[in-house]
Amino acid sequence: MSTFDPDPPAPAVGGSPAAQLVTIKRFLADRQPESATGDLTSMLYDLAVAGKLISNKTRRAGLTDMLGRSGVTNVQGEEQKSLDVYADEVIAGLLAQGGRVSALVSEEQPEVTIFEGNGPYVVTCDPLDGSSNIDANVSIGTIFGVFKQREPGSRPTVDDWLRPGRDLVAAGYLLYSTSTMLVYSTGDGVHAFTLDPEAGEFLLTWSDLEFPADPSYYSFNLAASRHWEQGVERFVHWANRDDTPTMSQRYIGSAVSDFHRNLLHGGIFAYPGTDDEPAGKLRLLYEGAPLAYLAEQAGGRGSDGRTSLLELQPADIHQRTPVFVGALELVERLEEFVSEPLQDA
Ligand code: AHG
Ligand code: MN
Ligand code: MN
Repeated sequence: MSTFDPDPPAPAVGGSPAAQLVTIKRFLADRQPESATGDLTSMLYDLAVAGKLISNKTRRAGLTDMLGRSGVTNVQGEEQKSLDVYADEVIAGLLAQGGRVSALVSEEQPEVTIFEGNGPYVVTCDPLDGSSNIDANVSIGTIFGVFKQREPGSRPTVDDWLRPGRDLVAAGYLLYSTSTMLVYSTGDGVHAFTLDPEAGEFLLTWSDLEFPADPSYYSFNLAASRHWEQGVERFVHWANRDDTPTMSQRYIGSAVSDFHRNLLHGGIFAYPGTDDEPAGKLRLLYEGAPLAYLAEQAGGRGSDGRTSLLELQPADIHQRTPVFVGALELVERLEEFVSEPLQDA
């Protein structure tokens, strides 16, 4: 029986404490291609600043007016939490002023927000993922995806944001938990930074993260299993056999938190479709596709159970999709069970 206290990856920079002080600004600058204009780097830095501001509010949510409901219902039909609204406003405000983004798709806005200035990038974001956890002081996060406009500098059109994840040029998330982390990829590996709250700096913790070969967790909400399509349940039965990898079941109720733990320790996160919601709950543009992009960059895969999430062409900015994302072997195994011919129940 393997332990469920697997070691995290080795720190990205070892040696003396001085070697640990690689700020995200330095890392972005060092990894930026010679030919780059610096626009993407600058926009990623704006998102890092948004993360600091949201983290600051999150850490004191119980002491301010940040807990609880906002009294507003969003386009998803879900009641917005105060922190959802704050996160959405901070991200939109910083990206609007940053001048690198021309359009923003947000879970909390019914329509796309167009910014003046025609920056070359389009951002999709879930300003606060795991909102049901806020009042329980359980970890939450922000998820983002970045497209480059088809004609940079022109007025953005629907073809700039209603696109498959294969077109993403960057994706990442912020995690507000025991520490605040920023994890991102621009197509050159997945890199993780931890916020030093005193210094106000994101410092490099791990570079080039990859899913470990031995998986430790599967993240499925088993309470919903009676509503899943048959193949998904067969995966869970397989995961519990004596002759398969010994995994523990962990489900936080915040996809970004489950994704992060599974990235470090190996595993798969699932939000399947159900008989009454075949497309499931998670949204393709700002949850499924960015997480699938990161998963592929880390040697894993994101799927709707049959197809890579990165191949799906959204028809609507809030389109939902089943999500199975994590270690390659586990997601491929899940797809095998889903594609197997239906057996007698
Ligand atoms: P959001 O808070 O942005 O709506 O996302 C919450 C999502 C996802 O993060 C999480 O895994 C899932 O909802 C939990 O849903 P259930 O409570 O239905 O399991
Ligand atoms: Mn979410
Ligand atoms: Mn959300």
